Amino acid sequence: MIIKTAEFVISNTDVKKCPDSALPEYAFIGRSNVGKSSLINMITAHKGLAMTSQKPGKTQLINHFLINKSWHLVDLPGYGYARLGQSNREKFKTIIESYILDREQLTCLFVLLDCRHKPQKIDLEFIEWAGEHGVPFALVFTKADKLSRGRLSANVEAYKQKLRESWEELPPIFVTSSEKKEGRDELLAYIDEINQTL
Ligand code: GTP
Ligand code: MG
Repeated sequence: MIIKTAEFVISNTDVKKCPDSALPEYAFIGRSNVGKSSLINMITAHKGLAMTSQKPGKTQLINHFLINKSWHLVDLPGYGYARLGQSNREKFKTIIESYILDREQLTCLFVLLDCRHKPQKIDLEFIEWAGEHGVPFALVFTKADKLSRGRLSANVEAYKQKLRESWEELPPIFVTSSEKKEGRDELLAYIDEINQTL
């Protein structure tokens, strides 16, 4: 898929105020700092589209971007950022959960995982929760440039092994680097493929 246009539409904390449109929507979720906003910029080839930061907790709203005037990409706040404090963490959890469960246009949720880490409880619990609620999702490993090829494939394989303990069938899995622009074609092809079936 060629990205012809990528435009910021709206930011908000309320799923009811998300764009009133029937366009299919693809959202990026994962821990704070995993690279959600960077990946949005990378796949759209629009560097400053989504705001990124070295410090976790940058994205605090539901951000809609209109791509090729035909589908939405959605940047979400990260989950599990310890320094936010309990009440803010709960607030983000509510925003994220209500968006995911109530937004009918949500076509696929991309769950981002830092490829350097072993499977983390918070991510596994989130994946479990998404599965229990029948949310269509795919997994995206980020920051692939930070590992050697050998370590990368070992970590991805270990993750699959862990998932097989609770899943009969594995979700689609992508490996990306926003730094090296890796995984872009694969992600866009996947989105395009789904869009064609709608
Ligand atoms: P929150 O909005 O806080 O939830 O974070 P986020 O998931 O949107 O992360 P963001 O895209 O802001 O990136 C966090 C940090 O990771 C930034 O310093 C990015 O430059 C860095 N980063 C993101 N993707 C990559 C990548 O593929 N490779 C490398 N080396 N760094 C990356
Ligand atoms: Mg962000």
